[in-house]
Amino acid sequence: MADPDADRGGTILSVRDLVTVYPTRLGDVPAVDRVGFDLRAGEILGVVGDSGSGKTTLARSLLGLVAAPGRIVSGEIRLHGRDLLTMTRKEMRQVRGAEIAMIFQNPIRSFHPAFTIGRQLAEAATRHRRISRRAAKEKAAEALTWVGMPEPRVRMRDHPHQFSGGMLQRVMIAMSLLNEPAVLVADEPTTALDVTIQAQILELIQRLAVDRGLGVILVTHNLGMVASICDRVMVMYAGQIVEESSVDAVFASPAHPYTVGLLDSQPDRAEGSRLEAMAGSSPKMTDLPPGCRFQPRCAYAEAACSDPPDLWEIPGGQTVRCWVSRRGGKLPDRRPGRSGGEER
Ligand SMILES: Nc1ncnc2c1ncn2[C@@H]1O[C@H](COP(=O)(O)OP(=O)(O)OP(=O)(O)O)[C@@H](O)[C@H]1O
Ligand code: SF4
Ligand SMILES: [Mg+2]
Repeated sequence: MADPDADRGGTILSVRDLVTVYPTRLGDVPAVDRVGFDLRAGEILGVVGDSGSGKTTLARSLLGLVAAPGRIVSGEIRLHGRDLLTMTRKEMRQVRGAEIAMIFQNPIRSFHPAFTIGRQLAEAATRHRRISRRAAKEKAAEALTWVGMPEPRVRMRDHPHQFSGGMLQRVMIAMSLLNEPAVLVADEPTTALDVTIQAQILELIQRLAVDRGLGVILVTHNLGMVASICDRVMVMYAGQIVEESSVDAVFASPAHPYTVGLLDSQPDRAEGSRLEAMAGSSPKMTDLPPGCRFQPRCAYAEAACSDPPDLWEIPGGQTVRCWVSRRGGKLPDRRPGRSGGEER
């Protein structure tokens, strides 16, 4: 983790015009299409969007782990100013785990079933530094303490199957933090866990950001999670960012029609029901509409929308990819049964 006093609040990760494609028989699919953002020390950036919008591809691109046959074709990923995309594989292996780390949805797959957790953590601790076995074990126990593991020294003797899903996710977070990276990329880290454990893992991630200045990219389907722990949110649709801004601004006043639909279709926790499912589905990535990619589903569409919109900053600091928001600043409320937008 970054030293919390050094560089607190400074930009640690800077992504520009990142394009990652998967080749298909019908041509290259731009799963990540000119994505750019900055992440500051101690900041938690939420990434949300439909299934297939490119969230995992973006997360894996940041670590140089795009699944074959996918490949990054252009852009910049600067970590503390150094462009990861110009590094050799060997250099990238050094950076991965030591400066930028990732946790996945299914922790069990990240561990070898036959070895103790202590051994696997200690091995991870020696991957980037020359330290004795004893020091590596100490480091492993320390990392387990960071994530609130009871009796860490005893649990280090256990094998992966002896842990519950929530505890194993903690072990995975401990493993990713062993070498004190500046950035943690978490792809749906709590989806497989029950609600109470989810809350504990989120609290842990938040504490690591606040106390240690860890920059976090949190991929999730859950907007409630974004509202509770993220500082900023990036909304993706068909490979592109369609809206990016502070969480407060997006929840108070969503500027992209897709974000409006996403907020409306979240389960209403108080009533335990879904408000309104969003009409339509994401376009096929091999058959994208020529103009705005959201146009076929958009209640606000107009003639201008047959040209692809760029990302613009609108008054209030939100960044949005929409002709109507660009012109008017805010979206008029066109949802059935609503008036004035006071519920946003
Ligand atoms: N290995 C692959 N080969 C070909 N296309 C792929 C591959 N992996 C992903 N894609 C395509 O890339 C696009 C983005 O996929 P990605 O997994 O990044 O989306 P996602 O936002 O993480 O979705 P989910 O919410 O379901 O996890 C999708 O259109 C998907 O079909
Ligand atoms: S650009 Fe047009 S079609 Fe696209 S989201 Fe905005 S209003 Fe809808
Ligand atoms: Mg995914």
